[in-house]
Amino acid sequence: MMKDHLEYVGRVVGDYRLLRWLGGGGFGNVYLAEDMRSSVQVAVKVLQIHLTKQEDWRSFINEARTMRLRHPHIVPLLDFGLDRHDTPFLVMEYAPQGTLRDRHPIGTRVPLAIAIKYASQMASALQYAHEAHLVHRDVKPENMLVRSDGTILLSDFGIATTVHTTHSRTNKGMLGTVPYVSPEQASGKPRAASDQYSLAIVLYEWISGRVPFEGAALDVAIQHATQLPPSLIAQVPDISSEVEDVLFKALAKDYKDRFPSTQAFLVTLQRAHTSAPFRSSAVIRAAKPTFKDVAPPPVKVQPSMNVALTAPRPVLQPEKTQSETAQVSCSSLDTRSQKLSAIPSPANSAFLSAVRKYSFSKTWRVLLVLLCGLVIVGGSYTYVTVKNIQRKAVAKEASNAYSSAVAQHGTMFGFDAAHTHTNSYERILDSDNVSQLQQVWRANVSMQHSDYSPAVARGVLYIGSLDGNLYALDAISGKEIWVASVNAGLASSPAIVNGTVYVGSLDGNLYAFDASTGKKDWIAPSGGIIYSSPTVANGIVYVGSWDNKLYAFDAITGEQKWVAPTAAHTEASPAVADGVVYLGSLDNKLYAFDAITGKQKWTATTGGDIDSSPAIANGIVYVGSWDNKLYAFDAMTGEQKWAASTGSIIYSSPAIDNGVVYIGSSDYKLYAFDARTGKQKWAVATNGGIDSSPLVANGVVYTGSLDHKLYAFDAITGDQKWTATTGDSINSSPIVANGMVYVGSRDDKLYAFSLPE
Ligand code: ADE
Repeated sequence: MMKDHLEYVGRVVGDYRLLRWLGGGGFGNVYLAEDMRSSVQVAVKVLQIHLTKQEDWRSFINEARTMRLRHPHIVPLLDFGLDRHDTPFLVMEYAPQGTLRDRHPIGTRVPLAIAIKYASQMASALQYAHEAHLVHRDVKPENMLVRSDGTILLSDFGIATTVHTTHSRTNKGMLGTVPYVSPEQASGKPRAASDQYSLAIVLYEWISGRVPFEGAALDVAIQHATQLPPSLIAQVPDISSEVEDVLFKALAKDYKDRFPSTQAFLVTLQRAHTSAPFRSSAVIRAAKPTFKDVAPPPVKVQPSMNVALTAPRPVLQPEKTQSETAQVSCSSLDTRSQKLSAIPSPANSAFLSAVRKYSFSKTWRVLLVLLCGLVIVGGSYTYVTVKNIQRKAVAKEASNAYSSAVAQHGTMFGFDAAHTHTNSYERILDSDNVSQLQQVWRANVSMQHSDYSPAVARGVLYIGSLDGNLYALDAISGKEIWVASVNAGLASSPAIVNGTVYVGSLDGNLYAFDASTGKKDWIAPSGGIIYSSPTVANGIVYVGSWDNKLYAFDAITGEQKWVAPTAAHTEASPAVADGVVYLGSLDNKLYAFDAITGKQKWTATTGGDIDSSPAIANGIVYVGSWDNKLYAFDAMTGEQKWAASTGSIIYSSPAIDNGVVYIGSSDYKLYAFDARTGKQKWAVATNGGIDSSPLVANGVVYTGSLDHKLYAFDAITGDQKWTATTGDSINSSPIVANGMVYVGSRDDKLYAFSLPE
């Protein structure tokens, strides 16, 4: 098969010209190719088989069927077909950095933290495949591709098999790659736990530099079935026994003794790593697992900013009044009520009355108008003085409005129940001063492969972690207030309402905690992993689950009110407005359910999976889709109003403010569209895909990018105003509260930025 691989270079297969040989994959060779219609570079796998045998058809169709698998860590299959000579071929995304085997050749070691980062991405891909009833059967570094942004993609589903087919259970012809193959797969009975075993072998190899069992194929297969893997600690003394125990459990001979799922394996490994990453320091670190090495603050905000391991836990801090740093322009005062009325949340009337109650009193308005007048007639000295008075006034009002609305109604991911990702209270950061933002603290949170965000309420920041903990931190200093533990990782953005924090977990439960103490109020089960972030409206918590269902629970008791089905997984979060819950699903559809009964009102179809959380404004619901488009549907009927195109897949959720919808796209751009017509107002490019959902506050749009940076753009013009670099991609949405900006990065850190004092 391999000897004539170069003969294909230069040939045309279907619409693709083969340019260069990349390597041999299962059943064929992979070439760098050019799509002659678009000049886009792709990878083409030419299967050097003729489809005469049933087995060959099976493997071709098997891999082609993985086209329906769409996951951030599974290589997207773009096309397949037969060439003129009936040679079958498959077309996939080209990963320019090759495979993890290229990056880490045989015999080399990979630092544990990096190995876990790779493995957690592969575990989420495998978990997804397993939930679709597919077993990969050939998990190894050669089948892990590195995308240009550094993310890892699982490839080569050529021998994947359906979990429930009798074929896979009885097949005696063992497929797979011997050093990575589990005992049950070697005896022809692969199952999801076989992929878990193979991933554990890969981790063992990365950590120690060698696979546990070596030798001739038959000998290796016998060792897999009968021998314990050699001690890892003996080879790598730094590794903690906790990490070794977790790996060895995934390597159990009997699949029943392994973890119940690949995701559970990785979550436990991450937890073991976070609590005791290295033997030498395990004792010290075990005392307090996270927030252990918060970076020294470049800007001094509070004397005791470092999160010291031994620091006593502070009590809840009162809201900070950003008196010295707030600023407002005369014109923004005029548009204030207009902006607020554009907020469409269900709770909007309540929110708005709360805001109005605390918005500028008549006296202040008169005073500020007078001050504005002074600015116009006065000299620069007067201007500065006036500006400072304005700042103080506005900061106090904004801070009060924010605090009291939050106290009454809570905040959630996106700041309101309709997930419009708009902080309408923000009057401190604006397009003029945002360029001065500086990092004030940084905390360690295990959030590598996730796109969930923190939420801030009453001066406390809440963030879930893949180590299974929910952290409450002082929003100003980053100091830990309390930690609450659950059974598995948290990859859902918390929602805080009426003194309760709601958060979904990978263990399938929705949790409610007391926001000031961290005490567990209740646990409500769903039938699958929860990635979705809960939304709370009118005493009901709504959350999507991987069991393809939307759940509604009583916010006080956790009692299940109703469950509504969708046709596929729901990873995105629901949004609620005017008695209707909206939720996107991976079956390409946006669903609308009655918020009280759960009865389906309508569905609207897009051209791709929906990973984006909808947002609603002025009777229109907006949502992004994997078909590259942002859609606007009538919120009551589901009738499509318009669809606006971007250059690539949309994972990001829309943000709406002042008649403009903002959304990120994997084409590296942030877009602004007219909310009524869908006409593009502007688009700005970053150096990485924008999976992050933008947030708008006081004329500034904030978004993260896979280029590791957090950006602030002027909401009207799209001009870049500020950027800050983190240690890895930013998939999550930034949060702005009381003059501070927060964002989580894949470098496992949560960053906080503020204006200088
Ligand atoms: N090797 C195997 N598949 C590949 C792909 N899709 N991109 C780059 N290198 C590869």
